[in-house]
Amino acid sequence: MCGIVGIITDSEISIKNDLLKSLKRLEYRGYDSVGYADVQGNMEKDVGEISKFLDTIKDSKTSCAISHTRWATHGGVTKINSHPHWDCKKNIFTVHNGIIENYQELKKELSGKGHVFITETDSEVISHFFEEELKSKSMVEAIKNFIKRIEGTYAILLIEKDKNRIYAIKKDSPLVLGLAKDRFYLASDIYAFSDTTNKAIFFEDGEFAIIDPNKYTFYDSKGKELKKGIYEFTWAISQEESVQDYPHYMIKEIHEQPISTQRLINSLDGEQHDKITKIANLVKNSKRVVFTAAGSSYYASLLGIYFLNRVGVNAHTLIASEFHNFMLVDKDTLFIAISQSGETMDVVAATKWARERGAKIVSLVNVPHSTLQRMSDISLEIHAGPEICVAATKTFTNQVVALLYLSFLLGFSVNMQTIPKKIDYVIRENEDSIKKMANELYEKKDIYIIGRGLSYPPSREMALKLKEISYIHAEGMMGGELKHGTIALIEPGTPVIALIPGKDFDMYSNAKEVEARGARVITIANMMDSDFKIDVTINDGKFAILSVIIGQLLTYYIARKKGLPIDKPRNLAKSVTVK
Ligand code: AGP
Ligand code: GLU
Repeated sequence: MCGIVGIITDSEISIKNDLLKSLKRLEYRGYDSVGYADVQGNMEKDVGEISKFLDTIKDSKTSCAISHTRWATHGGVTKINSHPHWDCKKNIFTVHNGIIENYQELKKELSGKGHVFITETDSEVISHFFEEELKSKSMVEAIKNFIKRIEGTYAILLIEKDKNRIYAIKKDSPLVLGLAKDRFYLASDIYAFSDTTNKAIFFEDGEFAIIDPNKYTFYDSKGKELKKGIYEFTWAISQEESVQDYPHYMIKEIHEQPISTQRLINSLDGEQHDKITKIANLVKNSKRVVFTAAGSSYYASLLGIYFLNRVGVNAHTLIASEFHNFMLVDKDTLFIAISQSGETMDVVAATKWARERGAKIVSLVNVPHSTLQRMSDISLEIHAGPEICVAATKTFTNQVVALLYLSFLLGFSVNMQTIPKKIDYVIRENEDSIKKMANELYEKKDIYIIGRGLSYPPSREMALKLKEISYIHAEGMMGGELKHGTIALIEPGTPVIALIPGKDFDMYSNAKEVEARGARVITIANMMDSDFKIDVTINDGKFAILSVIIGQLLTYYIARKKGLPIDKPRNLAKSVTVK
């Protein structure tokens, strides 16, 4: 996924306090390595996070520079593989978000023309491609040929030594121009510059732009000049962005959930009520409703179809990366994409595929003006506020709140207004016993979480949290499925967390089956004996939210006990903008 930032001005900027400060705001998109290049030809890059990089480099001034924080796809996490990359003469510097799928073919072709490659990455071909093209073409013609030749996904920034100009090219990976008082930003998303301007122009696929200190020109893929509108966005710069006095963003964002759910409920009762009512009517009148999402958002969509099926809606969901392989859509299909970032490449690709087949597009996003929002016929904002921890916590909960509210409008019985205080109760009443449980579980190699119906999606989400933040192999699964094989893995002391909503005696039996084989069974229930207290009296949709919050806290305290990074776990990034 990675994040890219470029700045150009007719005065000067500081590499550290302007360019890399802006890049740091995108670090949630990937943090394997970092680098920059400026128009004077100065370049620094290294593996590791931006804060470490800032300690190792000297500040300098420039009028034009580009930078990159990487999440490696092709080529290991090494200094030479980090961006920027350059051409043979170190005249052309590029940073790239995406994947150049035909890079081997291009590398072979360019090597045959004498170009020397020094990295294992796909991205390095870009600088050499332009070096070759510029021998016989103008830059605009070279870019047009690049767009024709390249297969894959890209948001690219390119500078030439001693030329105060940035070239920007976009296909599939996000790219936006920020218009500030004395400078232009180019970035992967608005978050890079939302602390200095709220004016932006979004690139669409196949577009490129030439950015000078006081002028920008957009072109379509044929090189025809484009006039594009300026967005004035209202991305709240709230105190939620600082970690306040919490040790990590994750625990802050978990504790924020009574507030963030209340903010969403108020919005759904208020300024977004017409929008969600329109979506409810679309759901009611569509022959078929299909969801798609990835990761935690997919588990939220599983809950969405659970709630909707309870009120007679023919709703299905499938993980975005496989959507086109296993799902059909047509003009009578309502397609609902869920993505907190609104930039997940798998989800954007599935949405494009569904739109090409005539489906009506609805999205649930957390980031306003995101790619997914701009592709949608109707887009609902979940108002969780900026979520800095890579792990989805408050955004997952708000996705489920929005889906509960949608189902409520269609007849699903739930009391929405009590959600914030139930969350507050569950956190207050259980945090200490969860810390103790974490001390018991933190050295375990495997943990199983089982659920049925309403509590099956929470079992999957809880397992994901444990895997991605506490690095424990965890498996969330249907309780009924356990006896069809996985139960062979249960040994004395194996932890199994059983999620038992209401009086689900089948779930209770599944817990007893593994207990009979020596498992250490931990129950999360609301109407039976339980290791944790969940304050809902019936088989209530809120059980799903509250059980996951216990899982979020358990994950956090296990990871803390293990001394893990928590907010930026290894190998991950917050927004996955590659396939
Ligand atoms: C969740 O904790 C993970 N960070 C990840 O699975 C995430 O949910 C997934 O990448 C989807 O992200 P999105 O909601 O921004 O599309
Ligand atoms: N494919 C490029 C690389 O591996 C860019 C990856 C990204 O977008 O993070 O360096």
